[in-house]
Amino acid sequence: MATHGVGVGNMSNQHWQTSNQDALDMLKSLGAGAADLLFSSPPYCIGKEYEATSSVDDFIREHKRILPDAIRAIKAGGSLCWQVGHHVANNVHVPLDAIVYAEASRFPELKLRNRIIWHFGHGIHERRRFSGRHETILWFTKGDDYSFNLDAVRVPQRYPGKKHYKGQRRGEWSGHPLGKNPSDVWDIPNVKAGHIEKTDHPCQFPVALAARLIRALTPVGGTVVDPYMGSGSTGVAAVLEGRKFVGSDREARYLMIADARLREAVLGSARVRADVPTSPPDLRTSVARLPPHFMRSELESSDG
Ligand SMILES: C[S@@+](CC[C@H](N)C(=O)[O-])C[C@H]1O[C@@H](n2cnc3c(N)ncnc32)[C@H](O)[C@@H]1O
Repeated sequence: MATHGVGVGNMSNQHWQTSNQDALDMLKSLGAGAADLLFSSPPYCIGKEYEATSSVDDFIREHKRILPDAIRAIKAGGSLCWQVGHHVANNVHVPLDAIVYAEASRFPELKLRNRIIWHFGHGIHERRRFSGRHETILWFTKGDDYSFNLDAVRVPQRYPGKKHYKGQRRGEWSGHPLGKNPSDVWDIPNVKAGHIEKTDHPCQFPVALAARLIRALTPVGGTVVDPYMGSGSTGVAAVLEGRKFVGSDREARYLMIADARLREAVLGSARVRADVPTSPPDLRTSVARLPPHFMRSELESSDG
């Protein structure tokens, strides 16, 4: 087993363990049913700096390689959450979650519960397609009897003062006192330059994405696993939510970033964006003002 570096933390009831090894080796080292939640964003095979390939076939091969051991590592009633985007070559678009779904469907114990749309504001401005501003998370449970703590992730209602207007409960408050179901469309800023969580890793996801899943799908003290942990965002969320974390990455340089963030999370100094809605543009700033040559009114009058 190629283990070149290992990070371990065990401070004030926070436990995490990271290793510089291949995802499959790490998964094989886990006991059957060790994980309450396996959450990861695998390499998309789009030629990123940590990828030797830009082939969809390699993405499929990687899933055939690791899924049996990933599923073995999840306890009955636990969850597999897989965050992926799209493969695009020559303007031809392949939704990677379609591939993940096809591969996961070979395992009858996996039941798809949600296909979560993660919507964000920043990305490439396309000229020959609509600009991509979402990725997805497929949430599967292992078996029919599963944990889901909705109350842990409720969000404020837009109009909390609404009342039933007809029927037996007419006149009573209609909303849940803890807030509403956050739905399967999540608006969370992606981690680009300027985001407080940004590290030298080229494609981090935000800690808030992992934190929502961890709160809803695992018990306090449970175990969260990320076999392609990159900069350790899943681990930071796990530590902050009082869960144990086991993670690995093939690249030693990312292990160092992840370990530093995990230590900060334990010490309470990790930089994490609060999971709150993005604010509207500040109209007092010069960048919010329309440059004179933008001819917005002409575009708008020709719209319809
Ligand atoms: C999409 S990134 C994950 C980013 C992570 N979610 C974060 O927030 O930083 C995928 C990661 O998988 C790692 N990786 C690629 N192939 C691997 C393998 N076979 N085993 C372990 N890690 C691998 C890459 O080095 C990269 O850091």
